[in-house]
Amino acid sequence: MTAPAVSGCRICGGPVSEMLDLGRQPLSDAFPRPADLAGEFFYRLGLGRCADCTMVQLVQEVPRERMFHSDYPYRSSLSSVMRAHFTGTGRELLATELTRPGAFCVELGCNDGVMLRTVAAAGVRHLGFEPSAEVAELARQQGVRVRTDFFEEETAAEVHATDGPADVIYAANTICHLPYLDSVLRGARLLLAPGGVLVFEDPYLGDILARTAFDQIYDEHFYYFTAHSVRAAAARSGLDLVDVRRLPVHGGEVRYTLAHAGRRTPSPAVADLLREERDRGVTGEEALHRFAADVARTRTELVALLRSLREEGRTVAAYGATAKSATVTNYCGLGPELISYVCDSTPAKQGRLTPGAHIPVRPPAAFADPYPDYAVLFAWNHADEIVAKETGFRAAGGRWIHYVPTVRVR
Ligand code: SAM
Ligand code: TMP
Ligand code: ZN
Repeated sequence: MTAPAVSGCRICGGPVSEMLDLGRQPLSDAFPRPADLAGEFFYRLGLGRCADCTMVQLVQEVPRERMFHSDYPYRSSLSSVMRAHFTGTGRELLATELTRPGAFCVELGCNDGVMLRTVAAAGVRHLGFEPSAEVAELARQQGVRVRTDFFEEETAAEVHATDGPADVIYAANTICHLPYLDSVLRGARLLLAPGGVLVFEDPYLGDILARTAFDQIYDEHFYYFTAHSVRAAAARSGLDLVDVRRLPVHGGEVRYTLAHAGRRTPSPAVADLLREERDRGVTGEEALHRFAADVARTRTELVALLRSLREEGRTVAAYGATAKSATVTNYCGLGPELISYVCDSTPAKQGRLTPGAHIPVRPPAAFADPYPDYAVLFAWNHADEIVAKETGFRAAGGRWIHYVPTVRVR
């Protein structure tokens, strides 16, 4: 447990109360080789809430270099649904915010270039920030200009000095990964042109609570945003929340648009979501207490189901060695004795073991060889895509096990 505990809110310094303890956890994206288990890093995964600004956040911070480095395995382009989502996003940015001659688009966490390749193909000036070197190289192969670095205030100032102001700074599934959000927002304000926008999308706390999606909680997801908490954080850096849009991807996200204070009139969607959050109590403590009880119930039911299947002699595997599943397996105590293997399309995960729980990862081709009786759908956020490509599994009598929003067999 060498991850430092956070002493107060990372946004405002206010008091943070711990609402949920998910225990000792490994790095969610560190897949050890079978011969190499000694060096695993663990920390304590606890979810806290700031009484002052309502920001929900982790109570321990894993150093960023331990998570994002040349071996970081996540590849955004492996999902056809997400490829289509990001192509659409690129086209929309080109049509709305990147129309002036010489427009400049910066992306944080561009990964393998899944979004910026559309901007690059249109001949528009751009720069991706991507600290994970191997995946950054894949983006370069797509014709994307990449800086292998962490975006924060200092690096933002350097880009402003060399490339000038940005019309758009975009980030998907990245801003919530950055505990040093204050530095990131200051950097964004410095780099953005006076009329520019910071657009980012991340898992939405309202959806996490509504679906008991406790596996969205892991080392890389440091913040769990609402319109309320994002607005408060933005205001501290001289930025206004001017638009919000619910997105269906990754189990429910919100795309937030921030602009320099006073530059844009907030859309009615902002007031609507703020009102909905108040009405549903999303930003309060009570919702988190209920969530904690729901999470405990899911664990009890999932463990009971898997134990009974094992006692009946059924074969059980899993699908999608997601970062999310590290939280499920380690919090519920699910190892290879209950889940024999997990199939995943990521080359860098195959032949390795899942973090902490040490379930072997196999390529998707192994799924049919032979099919297991049951498969836990760890990549539930890609359910439509996976169930459609694995129709042979149900045809052969196999059944999917879901645990979000509740434990059920289908
Ligand atoms: N945007 C892609 C998507 O939505 O699929 C990738 C998301 S991935 C979960 C998060 C990415 O952020 C990783 O590729 C990681 O290396 C990168 N990252 C981490 N810290 C960063 C920072 N300070 N600036 C820019 N990128 C960062
Ligand atoms: P994510 O939920 O963080 O996007 O991770 C999805 C994981 O599931 C990733 O490791 C890739 C894997 N996956 C498959 O194995 N097959 C698929 O069809 C899809 C969409 C994802
Ligand atoms: Zn706070």
